[in-house]
Order: sequence, then structure tokens, then C-alpha cells
Amino acid sequence: MPKLYIETVGCQMNMLDSELVVASLRKEGYELVGTPREADTILFNTCSVRQHAEDKIYSALGRLKHAKKHNPKKIIGVLGCMAQKDQRLVFERAPYVDLVVGPGQLHQIPALLSEIAAGSGPRMEVSLDRAAGSRAEVERSFESYDPLRDHEMRPSPYQAFVRIMIGCDKFCTYCIVPKVRGPEQSRPAHQIEAEARQLAAEGCREITLLGQTVNSYKHTAGERTRRLSDLIALLHDIDGIDRIKFVTNFPKDMTDDLLAAVRDLPKCSHYLHVPAQSGSNAVLRRMKRGYTVEEYRDMLARVRDMIPDAAVTSDFIVGFCGETEEDFQASARLMREARFKNSFVFKYSERPGTKGAELLADDVPDDVKRRRNNELLAIQTEISEEDNQAFLGRQVEVLVEGKSKLNRGTSELPQLTGRTNCDRIVVFDGQERLVGQFLPVLVYDANAFTLFASIVTAHAGPEVYSLQAPHA
Ligand code: 5AD
Ligand code: SF4
Repeated sequence: MPKLYIETVGCQMNMLDSELVVASLRKEGYELVGTPREADTILFNTCSVRQHAEDKIYSALGRLKHAKKHNPKKIIGVLGCMAQKDQRLVFERAPYVDLVVGPGQLHQIPALLSEIAAGSGPRMEVSLDRAAGSRAEVERSFESYDPLRDHEMRPSPYQAFVRIMIGCDKFCTYCIVPKVRGPEQSRPAHQIEAEARQLAAEGCREITLLGQTVNSYKHTAGERTRRLSDLIALLHDIDGIDRIKFVTNFPKDMTDDLLAAVRDLPKCSHYLHVPAQSGSNAVLRRMKRGYTVEEYRDMLARVRDMIPDAAVTSDFIVGFCGETEEDFQASARLMREARFKNSFVFKYSERPGTKGAELLADDVPDDVKRRRNNELLAIQTEISEEDNQAFLGRQVEVLVEGKSKLNRGTSELPQLTGRTNCDRIVVFDGQERLVGQFLPVLVYDANAFTLFASIVTAHAGPEVYSLQAPHA
């Protein structure tokens, strides 16, 4: 039985891709192992969003050079965004790599691996460059990769990612994604529904809909065009699915019909990831984000108005081309005002092949980027801590996800971790058999990242388990 090791970096889309690749190889008889040393086939599912992610993969490949010399039969593959971006360059930098496969060609992996094992020599399958053909041709070269699911391969049987679209058409000037993941294409609603029904039948209780700009979802079948709000309504009817999330949202596509769906459909998580990227209009313009900070604020005001308990989270890039201290202070101001539940902050990393790299100078020194990054993180931590303190003494409902890695528990019971409807992480002591259940817990401590709670016990009466906790 061939042994497979896979390493995945990057976003949730990559995690899903790896899950599906592993599932398809298990069907072929592969067995998953925990270290590259044990493996006959080693795959890296890669990310290109920042230089750092690529450097890490190339150094991991460098470490395999001797292993390959020692055992030339070991197959080494590079998949995903960096494979699509670097293509033949991967073979130039690591000549012992056998396989390079872009994110639009992952379905070919089982066949390619058996050809390589049979002596075909190195193989590469990538999609067309965005300018290499008509829109339809380029679209066809990026295949949505969503074969039937293997529930044993999911990290948790109770939670699953469901891809609803691939690619991106926004072309923010700093971003490599539209180039490596191709044109935006929404999957047919009935296919997504069938996948969600299958997941529910297998016991899955929470689905997270994935798209680079998930709220731009739009699919026409016959007379009927469905947007994300329509799709959510369709999925909301599936028995067994109890919580629906979706990431990542593009601020300009945060329409009222979507907010109304989140407000009115009780299975919708009140968690909205809507990256602002910057609080300065000059920077937003250079990033070609297509909105002003005033428009972002208006969008937030609509969210707060329609869903007062929504937890909104954001991404920020610091040190983008030409970012002045004033521009940066505008980002800090937006972060303070918006009181995001949390924010991911990134130092700008120039990506060859983007408009930013072509037209704008990466002129903010690294130490300035680092300082701005730390400052924004400190502001966010302060806000998260204050907001989490407000949960002390409150009862919230969590979906129990598994054993906690923190383990600061004092009792005999294992420490479990779960998430509230608003995606807050909660840690509490409890029996492992509670994993996959929705439970009310009482919060007794909190820091910026975690709520600590205890299970509301049966003393309070059995009715407590059917109690619908308010959206946390
Ligand atoms: N440099 C730094 N951060 C980036 N992101 C995307 N491209 C870059 C880049 N070139 C960030 C954005 C995006 C998140 C997934 O990664 O904030 O929302
Ligand atoms: Fe990148 Fe912008 Fe598309 Fe997000 S919306 S994937 S940041 S181009």
C-alpha cells in the first residue's frame, strides 16, 4: 500500500483541497502517514499570498533533496497556488520534484501519480494564464474540484467546508489570487445542496461555505439566478445542518438581502469576515479595492443596524506601497471604531505578476512595516479582550469541536473546545462524547482570544439542554 504524506499551508480553500486530494488517493489504496520519512509520496499544497509562505515550501523541498537521492522512488509533488504561479520554475529550483499541479487541475493527481510511478518522468499540469485565451477557455482550464466527500478524511465529522465558488475577479493590486485561482465561477446551487445533504446524512452539523469573495456568489440555472442569500435559504432547509457560516466577504457585496438572511435564518452564524485592508482612501484607491473608507463604515453601520450582535472580523495590510504614517493612523482609527472581533494583520509582501508589483514601489521599509503590524495587533488585542470580558457570567451556546490543545484544566475531565454562534472560541471541561453537540456553557473567564466556561449542568433541570441561548 503506497504511503502518502501531505503538508498544507494557506487558507481554508487549501485545507479543503488537501482533504479532497487525500480522499481521492485513499480510494486508490494510499495510506496517510504522519511524517515525510515514512512516505513514498510527499505532497505540498502551497500558498502564494505572501513571499514567506513560498520560502517555507522551497526550504522544505530543499530538505528533501538527500531523501530523494537516497530513495529515487520517492515521489515529490508541489500542488496549489505556488505550483500555478511558478510552474516550471519549481523544477528549476528543485530538480528532483516529480509533480507540479495547479489548483484547477487537482482532479488529475491520482492518474499523474500512477504515470510517474510507471516511469513517465516529471509531470506538470497547470491552468491557462488569465491572458492566455478567451474568458471561456481560461474558465474551462480551472476545474472546480469537488468530488464526493470521504467523511473519514475531514478533521471533524461534525464540521465541513463546502466550496461554493472558485477564483476571483476583483484584482486587488497586491493580490496574486485572481492569477493563480483563475476567473470567478460559482458552482450550481443544486450541486452545493446535494453536497450539503450528503454531509448532513453523514452526521455533519456545521457547514462553512467557501469562496474568495463568497458573497459575490451568483449562479443562473434556466430562468432562476441565485445569490448567496438564496443559496443560504436553500441550505437552511436541510435537516441535520444546524449552523451555516460563510467566508470571505467582499465589503462592496455585503448586500441587504444577505444581511436579512443572516438575521432571519436562525441557523446562520452571526459571524462576518469582511476584510477592510486599510482605513485610508489613498491606500484603498491604490489597492483598487473599489470602496472608500466611508463606504466601508456605511456597510458596517448597516450590519450593526440589522444584526446588532454580529461579530465582524477583518484583515489589514500594513506598509502597502506609499503608505504614510497618516495612512497608517487611519487604519488604526478604523480598527478602533469598528471594534472588530479580531483582525488578521499582514505586512505587505510584493507578489510578482500583480499590478502592485508592476506599477507601484514597495517603498515602506521592513522595520516600519513590522512596527505598524505590532501596533495594529496591540490595538486589536485590547479590543478583543475588552469585548470578551463582556461575556463574563453569560451563558452561550457552543458547538463542541474536540479536545483543547491548551489543557490548562484542573479537573479529571478532558478540556474541550467549541465555538459560539459568533465564532468565539470557548474552552471548558467535559466528556469527549460531547463532541459534535450543541451545549449551553457559562463563561467564567476570558482573555483576548478565548472564553473559559463550564458546562451548564443538569441540576438546572433537563430543560436547560433544549434552551436556545441568545446569539453569543
Ligand atoms: N501581502 C500581504 N498580505 C496580503 N494579503 C493578500 N495579498 C497580500 C500581499 N501581497 C492578505 C489580505 C487578504 C489576506 C488573505 O491576505 O489581507 O485579505
Ligand atoms: Fe485577492 Fe482582492 Fe480577490 Fe480577495 S478580493 S482574493 S484580496 S483580489
